[in-house]
Amino acid sequence: MYITTPIYYVNDKPHIGHAYTNLLSDFFARFYRLCKEPVVLLTGTDEHGQKIEKSAKNLGISPTTLVDRVSKNFFDLAKALHLSNDDFIRTTEARHHKAVCHLFETIQKNGWIYKGSYSGWYASQDEAFYKQEDLIEGKAPTGAHVEWVCEESYFFKLSAFQEKLLDFYKNHPDFVMPHGRYNEVIRFVEGGLDDLSISRTGVKWGIPVPGDPDHVIYVWMDALCNYLSAIGYPNHLNNDLWEQSLHILGKDIIRFHAVYWPAFLMAADLPPPSQLAVHGWWTNEKQKISKSLGNVIDPIQLINDYSCDALRYFLLKNGAFSGDTDFSISLFEERYNSDLVNRFGNLVQRVLVFLVKNLDGIVPLAYDKTMQHAWEDLKIYAKNFQINCYVDRVFLLIDEANRYMEDNAPWAIKKLGDKKQLDTVMGNLCEMIKCICFYLSPVIPEGIHKCLSFFGIEGCNTTLLHRSLEGIIVKDVHALYPRLQKEPA
Ligand code: MSP
Repeated sequence: MYITTPIYYVNDKPHIGHAYTNLLSDFFARFYRLCKEPVVLLTGTDEHGQKIEKSAKNLGISPTTLVDRVSKNFFDLAKALHLSNDDFIRTTEARHHKAVCHLFETIQKNGWIYKGSYSGWYASQDEAFYKQEDLIEGKAPTGAHVEWVCEESYFFKLSAFQEKLLDFYKNHPDFVMPHGRYNEVIRFVEGGLDDLSISRTGVKWGIPVPGDPDHVIYVWMDALCNYLSAIGYPNHLNNDLWEQSLHILGKDIIRFHAVYWPAFLMAADLPPPSQLAVHGWWTNEKQKISKSLGNVIDPIQLINDYSCDALRYFLLKNGAFSGDTDFSISLFEERYNSDLVNRFGNLVQRVLVFLVKNLDGIVPLAYDKTMQHAWEDLKIYAKNFQINCYVDRVFLLIDEANRYMEDNAPWAIKKLGDKKQLDTVMGNLCEMIKCICFYLSPVIPEGIHKCLSFFGIEGCNTTLLHRSLEGIIVKDVHALYPRLQKEPA
């Protein structure tokens, strides 16, 4: 499978919205690897266009200095989030430049590009063109500031793709997930498509149109092409990967991915991506997250203050494909303490400390392996993009394991001196912890890595679920997650 994040604009620091798109993609990459599917996970940065050009100008630095500096922030964010990406693409790289020029030239050669003149509104914040009737109180529907543009431009004959796109959607009913978004796309395309301006003369920071360097290629055409540049286009496109491509993206950029991108690809005789998974937005204490409101939440700060797992857990458990989700620091802390510390951390601690103290840490044979069956349901949740259900289901298993420990009270069995029964209970509990580790490894890989290290196991892999832990010696057990201490009032 080929899983991609959107590539991030490098005009500003990363915030939790960016972290969320990254984490969803990483969840799927890790999940499909557990399903024994080879996965390539791609992320990167979108570095051209007017927005970056303007930001650099405002800062009094060159665009190159700006993009190098800010791209590094996104690179570092991927590391801090423990993203398992195989590649990090920057649109200022030579491999990408070559791919974009080739895509443009192919579409041109196929007769889908003509030269004309564009007059209309442009919002550099969205890097998007708007018609007069789109504007709301003189602004783009997104609230972005617009400016009037009147310049020579190359156009892509998007209008000619209306029927082809509608046919494609009809034949691929799961192309856009969730289905509500798919219907939105169809309604938009049924409403008619105008040809699309795909070059700017008023912008200099970009990839020049081949053979006409007064124009730079429209930044969205440039950016979308990253998904191909990273897998060898034009010379060695990895078709097998492309045919299994899953783009993860936020609802604000659906039109670019679901309409323009498949049309560009069809125009270049390439198949559209296999699937788009479109998620909702995060708000902060019910407000849109924006720099001007001063309510941007820095994911790196959260990782430093709490831990990577704390952030991964909260965003993956609560974020949604279907709608928007509100971030609140009190809820964040509450979930951390109640779920990671009390439910999961506590289970691991109680079971393993007891094992070390009473059975020299030696894991006995497990008789009850029923938790392995949960994998079938979890796979369905993940494949249906129901990550919240996935996480909740695993935490119910954790509750079940905690209850099993309470109900069977190994400390009481120990007092009775029933070694066989004690072995059975502790073997079963270790088996449960192992299953839970396997299931949670796409969600909180750091804690799982630590937990498995108590068993002397180096990381989670595809074989772990059905592996017997009998005879393993558990040692060096310590708390997985420190409890947050509330500041005294
Ligand atoms: N550069 C384009 C994408 C090009 S992909 C070929 C872009 N970049 S972005 O940095 O503005 O946004 C990247 C991703 O972050 C998008 O999927 C967007 O939806 C997501 N988010 C930005 N703010 C967000 C929230 N507040 N909440 C959730 N995700 C949001 O668009």
